Amino acid sequence: MIRGEALYSGKAKTVYATPDPRRYIVKFRDDVTAGDGAKKASMKGKGYYNAQISAKLFKLLADNGISTHYIKMVSEDEMLVHACNMIKLEVIPRNYAAGSIVKKYEFPEGKRFDPPIIVMDYKNDAAHDPMLNDDIAIALGIVTEKELRKIRKVSLRVNEILQKFLDEKGLLLPDFKLEFGKVDKKIVVADEISPDTMRLWKKDTHQSLDKDVFRFDKGDLLAAYEEAARLIAPEIFK
Ligand code: C5P
Repeated sequence: MIRGEALYSGKAKTVYATPDPRRYIVKFRDDVTAGDGAKKASMKGKGYYNAQISAKLFKLLADNGISTHYIKMVSEDEMLVHACNMIKLEVIPRNYAAGSIVKKYEFPEGKRFDPPIIVMDYKNDAAHDPMLNDDIAIALGIVTEKELRKIRKVSLRVNEILQKFLDEKGLLLPDFKLEFGKVDKKIVVADEISPDTMRLWKKDTHQSLDKDVFRFDKGDLLAAYEEAARLIAPEIFK
């Protein structure tokens, strides 16, 4: 598939046009940022691990009946996807308290949420992605009530599927971020599902194998992503 012009470049991925207007190519770059872009670095191989882990998890979701934008990998760090209109929401299922929810409220770090909590943020860099509720999302015109119901239902199901899969690999999933897009009128899981957008803890030690390693200077980010990849997508090492 021929890569056309760059349509959008985010903090860690670039979206390219293709000759088919219904398909985009998403390239996972080696850039890593934290703190709203305040902390930046580039690590060779990081894009590769994120792309491969995302591909594996999108395939897992598809195998479980969830519609995603993923079609196939077209190189080691580029995926062909269905072109979608992105919904400006960051949907964050949370199973254990970590990160911003611990700072904002009085949850002890590691507290189990059962049932899981779903937090939604307005995807808006200039406003630092403020948290919103259903009424605000609908009033902003981002989604309809019916779409929100669907997004919540799919997010909970994705959470179940990912938790079960990761549990079998010895990993806990404290939280992760989902983004949704629309292909015609159909809502699909889009963006990425990678250690950049999830918290992944080793079950026994709660050691992070995710971007917290970079955010909080907890060690070698690439080594953590490689360890996550070895557990989630061991076939890429053969
Ligand atoms: O920062 P916070 O604790 O709210 O993040 C919750 C989860 O969502 C984490 O797994 C984080 O990596 C992910 N996230 C993300 N992109 C953002 C905000 C959070 O991938 N803009």
